[in-house]
Amino acid sequence: MLNVKLFQMDTFTSANYEETLRPRMESAQEKLLKGTGAGSDFIGWVNLPQDYDKEEFARIKAAAAKIQSNSKALVVIGIGGSYLGARGVIDCLCSPNYNLKKKSTPNVYFVGNGLSSDAMAEVVELLGDDDFSVNVISKSGTTTEPAVAFRFFRKMLEDKYGKEGAKERIFATTDKARGALKSLADAEGWETFVVPDDVGGRYSVLTAVGLLPIAVTGVDIDALMGGAASMMEVCRKSGYEENPAWRYAAVRYELYCAGKSIEVLGCYDPAFRFMTEWWKQLYGESEGKEGKALFPASVEFTADLHSMGQYIQEGQRILFETMVRLGDSQKQMYVPMDEQDGDGLNFLAGKSMDFVRDRAMEGTLLAHTEGGVPNVIVNLDGRDAYSLGQMIYFFEFACGLSGYLLEVNPFDQPGVEAYKKNMFALLGKPGYEARKAELEAKLGG
Ligand code: PA5
Repeated sequence: MLNVKLFQMDTFTSANYEETLRPRMESAQEKLLKGTGAGSDFIGWVNLPQDYDKEEFARIKAAAAKIQSNSKALVVIGIGGSYLGARGVIDCLCSPNYNLKKKSTPNVYFVGNGLSSDAMAEVVELLGDDDFSVNVISKSGTTTEPAVAFRFFRKMLEDKYGKEGAKERIFATTDKARGALKSLADAEGWETFVVPDDVGGRYSVLTAVGLLPIAVTGVDIDALMGGAASMMEVCRKSGYEENPAWRYAAVRYELYCAGKSIEVLGCYDPAFRFMTEWWKQLYGESEGKEGKALFPASVEFTADLHSMGQYIQEGQRILFETMVRLGDSQKQMYVPMDEQDGDGLNFLAGKSMDFVRDRAMEGTLLAHTEGGVPNVIVNLDGRDAYSLGQMIYFFEFACGLSGYLLEVNPFDQPGVEAYKKNMFALLGKPGYEARKAELEAKLGG
């Protein structure tokens, strides 16, 4: 079972902070479990690992099998919460090089997560003549980036397979009743999957949003949900020893109050990179409001020890680290013996790469802690679907607790609208004429 260890934390925290925070932690827990806190319309994810739609879950598996049988590639169109979780899980469990591997499952390309023409053209080029399907994901059904990308890939499908053939290859994941995408899907007869009303984008990886793309790669989504369900049971408990989400939420709040302003999430495996991107959205969007919150950043060790290591060790003392440990590697490599020993590395001959990595991990932990960077360690049982399901639920639950400790609504995102209004105005969207003139004058000035 996932656990949280605090390394030599006493030097950075006030005495008994966990006990001091206990009543507030109990209240935060109650808000999540009973739906009595701010944003309680969006806590459908709390019971989701057990209370999910089993009929839809079976349809997700059937759709994944259909895509596996008729497509060499799946184009996944979505942004933010409609993209990062699936990409994180696929990279972590199948490798960031998944598309380059020899395999019987389709390649997965993520588009609609930005507005780069080159990035989209590259996916078109990589698809070539391959048979492909599209999973377009947008809860609102109106987000510009995925909507624009979908125009391109829908047209490609319809040109290649005709309207009827394309219908068999378009899967829309969206609101059950509202939005342009839902209306379009109903009108065109595409198969649809639902983003539940009470689950916000960044908490939606364990819905069809994440599950369909993940299932297409062959990852065991039963195990993913099983891991999340096991953590859901743990997170219902009260107490720091019993519930790792309590320990994590409390220490990050305590460190924030003690003057830390940045939390750096890291891992010693490059495959974890997009899980850190998912985590950054989860915490950044849930907590970054009313002028409050830790800034969520990320590193990939040991690579970033050679770029960010200097700052972490000796820069402004405003950071703490949360390191995710994935356990043993699936494939163990051993350092070879070299008769000449020209590089002087024979003292490592016969040692596993995990052994070398673990010593780097311990050395870094000690150096950073001594350098004034507190370390929180999140230990996973391994790098498999079950463990990752546990971790996803753990971070989500801790985020809810943490947001309530901070006294913000962890489930809204009013700040994401500001750039959209400006973009629409500058693009000439009807209804934004006055704002357009105003913005152009500012830009011109
Ligand atoms: O968490 C969120 O709410 C956002 O990141 C959204 O997921 C993102 O903006 C995409 O929105 P939508 O799924 O409505 O296209």
